[in-house]
Amino acid sequence: MQVIIKTLTLKNFKSHRDITVNFGERTDITGDNAEGKSTICEAPSYVLYGTDALGSKLDPTPITYEAEETKVSLLLEIDGEELMLGRSLKKNKTTYYLNDVPSKAGEFNEVVEKLFDKDLFLSLYNPSYFPSMHWEKQRSMLLQYVTSPINKDVLKLMPDEQNKCLAALFKKHRLEDIKKIHAENKTSLDKKYIAAQSRTKTLKEQVDQLPNVGAAPIESLKAELSQIDKQVREKESLLDSTWEKNQSYNSLQAKIRNLQDQVEMSKERWPLLKNEKIEDSCRTCKRPLDEESVTEVKADKESRIKDYRANHEKLRKERDDLKAQLKEMVFVDATELREEIRVVDSSALPLREAIQIHGQLARLEEQVNQAQVDEKETLQSLNESIFILDSVKAFKAKEAELQGEKVQALFDTLSVRLFEEQKNGEMKNTFEIELDKKPYRKLSTAEGIRAGLELRDVLSQQSELITPVFLDNAESITTFKQPIGQLIVSRVVAGQELIIEGVDAK
Ligand SMILES: Nc1ncnc2c1ncn2[C@@H]1O[C@H](COP(=O)(O)OP(=O)(O)OP(=O)(O)O)[C@@H](O)[C@H]1O
Ligand SMILES: [Mg+2]
Repeated sequence: MQVIIKTLTLKNFKSHRDITVNFGERTDITGDNAEGKSTICEAPSYVLYGTDALGSKLDPTPITYEAEETKVSLLLEIDGEELMLGRSLKKNKTTYYLNDVPSKAGEFNEVVEKLFDKDLFLSLYNPSYFPSMHWEKQRSMLLQYVTSPINKDVLKLMPDEQNKCLAALFKKHRLEDIKKIHAENKTSLDKKYIAAQSRTKTLKEQVDQLPNVGAAPIESLKAELSQIDKQVREKESLLDSTWEKNQSYNSLQAKIRNLQDQVEMSKERWPLLKNEKIEDSCRTCKRPLDEESVTEVKADKESRIKDYRANHEKLRKERDDLKAQLKEMVFVDATELREEIRVVDSSALPLREAIQIHGQLARLEEQVNQAQVDEKETLQSLNESIFILDSVKAFKAKEAELQGEKVQALFDTLSVRLFEEQKNGEMKNTFEIELDKKPYRKLSTAEGIRAGLELRDVLSQQSELITPVFLDNAESITTFKQPIGQLIVSRVVAGQELIIEGVDAK
C-alpha cells in the first residue's frame, strides 16, 4: 500500500492562520526559526489521530490570536484513490470529516484504523517515532516481520549430545514446557539428593556406632557357638539321666523309710501280744473256763504270735533287701554339673552378642548399599535434568543468535540486539539499535536521523506500506540516503520566511 499526502489545509492551526500546502514527491519546507515548519509536520498526525508526530495528544488551538474554529484537511492518495480527512476543533468540540462529510468519531476512527496501524504509520512518517516507543513495543513490531527459526534449524547448530537430547524431548513437549518440567524436577531432585546423602551418612554413622566384633568371620563365630551349644546339650542330657537315676534312688529310699515305719509299728505291737493274759474265766458271766477252752485260748495266742513273727520278719527282710539294693545304687550330686553347664553356656554369651551385632551390621550394610544406590540414581537423574536445562539454555541462545542474524540481515549500517545474556547464562529479551556499537540514544543528531531513516525504511519494506516521511530539522544533516516513499524535508534558513516547494519527478 502506498500513501501519499497530496494537500494539507490548515485554518487557525497553532501559528498558521490559513495555509494550504501542496506536496510533491519531494517537498522542501524552508524558513527561519518559528516560521511554522514543525507545525506543518504535526498537522497530518493531528488529522489522523489527534496527536503530534510523536503520538502525544495535541491541542492546536491558537494562543497568540483569536480564532473561532481550528480546522485541518488532509487529502491523501492511497493506492491511487483519494481520501479527504478533516478534523476541526471549535470550543473544545471536535468534528470529523470523511471526504468533507461530517462524521462521528467512531466512524472516522474506524476508517483511519482500517487504513494502517497507527504505530506503523507514525514510525514511517516520523523517523524519531519508532525509537521513542517502549523497547518491547519496538522489538515486537520489528520481529512481527521476521519468523522465528524452526527447531530443526536451531538443533542443527547445537552440539551432538544436546541436539539428540532435545530432539527426543521435542517429540512430546514444547521448549518452554521442557524447561518447566525439568526446572521442577531439578528442584525436587536437589532436595531428594540432599535427603539421600544424609540417609547414607546416618546409616554409616549407625554402622560406626556398632561395637567392634573383631576380625573373626560370622561363620567361625557360629561354628564356635554351635560347639558350645553341643557341649551344653551333652551336659544337659547327662543331667537328665542323672536326675532319672536319682529319682529311682529317692523312691527306693522312700520305700525303705516306709518299711522302716512299718517295722517300728510292728515292734510296738509285740509287748502287747507277748504279755496278753490267758483268762481262766468267762469275761461276761465270770464262770471258770474248762480246760479245753483254756487250751484253745492258749493255742489261739500261740497262732497269733506265730503270724506276728512271720509278718515282722517279712517286713524286716523286705526292708533289708531294699537297703541292700540301695547300697548298690549311687546318688549323684548334680550341683557341679549344673554349674558346669552354667559356665559353659555363659561362655557363649559374647559369641551370641557378636553374632547378633554381625546380623545388625549385615542389615545396616544392606541399607547403606541401597541408600548409596538411591543416592547415585538421584544424582544421575538430577544431572540429566541439569543437562536438559543447560541444553534448553543453549538452544535459546542459538535460537536467539539465528533470529538475531535474520533481523540483522535487514539492516545496512545499524545493528540490532534482541537478546541479552544474563549472569546465569539465560537469554533475556532486550532491544537495542546500535550504530558502530553506539546505542541509538547516544547518537549525534545527524546520526540519530540517519538511524531513524534506516529503521523506517526496513519497517516500510517489511510491512510493504509506503508512506510519506517528514524529515524535520534537516539542516543538521549533511547527507542522507533517499528514503522509501514521499519525502518532506524541513530546513532552517536564516532570515527567510516560510517557503514550501513541492517537486514531482519529471
Ligand atoms: N498554539 C499555538 N498558537 C500559536 N502559536 C503557537 C502555538 N504553539 C506554538 N506556536 C508558535 O508557533 C511558531 C512556529 O512554531 P514551529 O515549531 O512550527 O516553528 P519552526 O519553524 O519549526 O521553528 P524551528 O526552526 O525553531 O524549529 C512558534 O513561534 C511557536 O512558538
Ligand atoms: Mg521546528
